[in-house]
Amino acid sequence: MKGIVLAGGTGSRLFPLTKITNKHLLPIFDKPMIYYPILTLVEAGIQDLLIVTGGRNSGDFLRLLANGKEFGLKHINYTYQEGEGGIAEALALAEHFAESSKICVVLGDNIIEGSIAEAVREFQSQDRGAKILLKEVQDAERFGVAEIKGDRIVGIEEKPAKPKSNYAVTGIYMYDNTVFDKTRTLKPSARGELEITDVNNAYIEEGTMTFNYLEGWWTDAGTFDSLLRAANLVHETKRKREPPTGSALARDAAGVEE
Ligand code: G1P
Repeated sequence: MKGIVLAGGTGSRLFPLTKITNKHLLPIFDKPMIYYPILTLVEAGIQDLLIVTGGRNSGDFLRLLANGKEFGLKHINYTYQEGEGGIAEALALAEHFAESSKICVVLGDNIIEGSIAEAVREFQSQDRGAKILLKEVQDAERFGVAEIKGDRIVGIEEKPAKPKSNYAVTGIYMYDNTVFDKTRTLKPSARGELEITDVNNAYIEEGTMTFNYLEGWWTDAGTFDSLLRAANLVHETKRKREPPTGSALARDAAGVEE
């Protein structure tokens, strides 16, 4: 399976932080934002990556990531999205890269605590179609929201005023290569973008969409509140995993008696 990180857009919700740089280069605690979706893919065993960038300072991605040595990669592919056409438009740029492979797409501002390795394995043996990952949230109206009946998703609504469930569709999507035919049939939404939710609904109508619930915390980082939340979550998780030497947590981890 090939991996695609979508890191375009103007990041207008984070203005003026994004006045001089791309949203995905902003820091989330101790790493630039784009490191997290790359690590999510690499940890799941996906080595062949395409970064779709755009907007300001797109050259900085190359300076920052180069050929991905820091992630144990030999090479990274890059492409450029003109303008602000939305997630599905950015995805359409990946067609030549995907060839006939299945793809795993991660939005460049989606950060997770856990792993997608199991979901990726399951999708590898799924005949055709798509798989999405859901997460229960308190503010579902900010996201694509899944309507679930039994063990099936019957539809997804993009940022509904009255969500039909508390299950947000996270920005981690697995598709077979019919996704590019589906993106070609899309019409711009009210916000003038080609919506990834419309791509997902096409798979739902076809009856080929599966889903998993994502373990561990999940956040996006595209607003001031979620940017701060993301940094705090990463910080807390890091503190738990690697408590600073000499701290009470480190002494507990080492089994030292007070
Ligand atoms: C996008 C998708 C939405 C999804 C979210 C996850 O929203 O349109 O369906 O739930 O990413 O981060 P956006 O960040 O473009 O508002």
